[in-house]
Amino acid sequence: MNKPTHSAFANTAEEAIAAQDALDGPMTSEKATEVAMQNTLLTPRFYTTDFDEMDAIDVTPVRKDWDILIEQMRADPNKGHFKKNEDWDDVDWDGMEPALKAEFIDFLISSCTAEFSGCVLYKEMKRRGSNKDITELFQLMARDEARHAGFINDALREAGIRVNLGFLTQQKKYTYFRPKFIYYATYLSEKIGYARYITIFRHLEENPEMRFHPIFKWFREWCNDEFSHGEAFALLLKTDPKLTTSFQNKLWIKFFLTAVYSTMWVRDHQRPVFHEALGVDVTWYGQEVFRKTSEITKQVFPITLDIDHPRWRPNLDRMEAASRQVAAAKARGGVMGMISRIGGMAKAATAFAAVFTIPAHKNAVPANPRLKPAY
Ligand SMILES: [Fe+2]
Ligand SMILES: [Fe+2]
Repeated sequence: MNKPTHSAFANTAEEAIAAQDALDGPMTSEKATEVAMQNTLLTPRFYTTDFDEMDAIDVTPVRKDWDILIEQMRADPNKGHFKKNEDWDDVDWDGMEPALKAEFIDFLISSCTAEFSGCVLYKEMKRRGSNKDITELFQLMARDEARHAGFINDALREAGIRVNLGFLTQQKKYTYFRPKFIYYATYLSEKIGYARYITIFRHLEENPEMRFHPIFKWFREWCNDEFSHGEAFALLLKTDPKLTTSFQNKLWIKFFLTAVYSTMWVRDHQRPVFHEALGVDVTWYGQEVFRKTSEITKQVFPITLDIDHPRWRPNLDRMEAASRQVAAAKARGGVMGMISRIGGMAKAATAFAAVFTIPAHKNAVPANPRLKPAY
């Protein structure tokens, strides 16, 4: 069989990565890869886990829904979609306002890294496992994420940069998470990814004149992939009721909800020019994405966060201010820089605790978790 020449047509993650890396020849982009290599609390990380424990999952309790979902993913409705076509417009990178260009490139690199982070984790699970249900699911998800990352790289390439995916796989630091933390974090990041992409897509449908780059036209099919991935994790969570019912695990779920929501808030508020160019009020956007995500996660999580509580937004803003202080202190260096950095970290921790202790809304989880992308 011929190897696909573009990641959009790849059947596996490996093919997609090879196709992307083959596109570039001698062009290097150390800067973009350097950004993608960063590991801070706010940048996308690469994860590793106990693959044997994950391989032992028995999907029998959710078999019916599982087979339907896998069949949909196998049918591959988005094959060939993640590639530039006649709908792609010329982008005037040189004429773009420098502040917007910088923030947009940062957005693309961080999105590419996040997509690829899913790819490496899923690909590794596929490689290590022997459970046919699990390995097939992870191979299908890795395929999708590699296409997504490849497509973002296509966009970056026009600006003369790209993230070196092969290099990243080998060199970026991996963070270990127990399988149950992988389920919570990955389920949430797939669903919040859906909510983010669809919210921007719907906004630009109503305000097409604000669409300053063609990649946003691809967001609908894109978010449907993320939605399916989230569905798969919802089913995985359903295979073991303890994961969402014990007192301790409910606390973990609250922790992950709080951490994922506040990280997104801080990150997005650091890109004011990008959001202004889209005509998106970043505070409205954050709350809207949280609202959609909360609604969706009721399919499997027994709690949702009270995002209208009076302590919610002021403390997210405090976390954001603290993260600016930490970044400035880091750049400054020296003893004063270190003191300011510790102060900033303490402020962020206090604000996080203030948000984490807001009483959550309880939710009666339905017996059958399956949902359709409805936004
Ligand atoms: Fe993705
Ligand atoms: Fe995904």
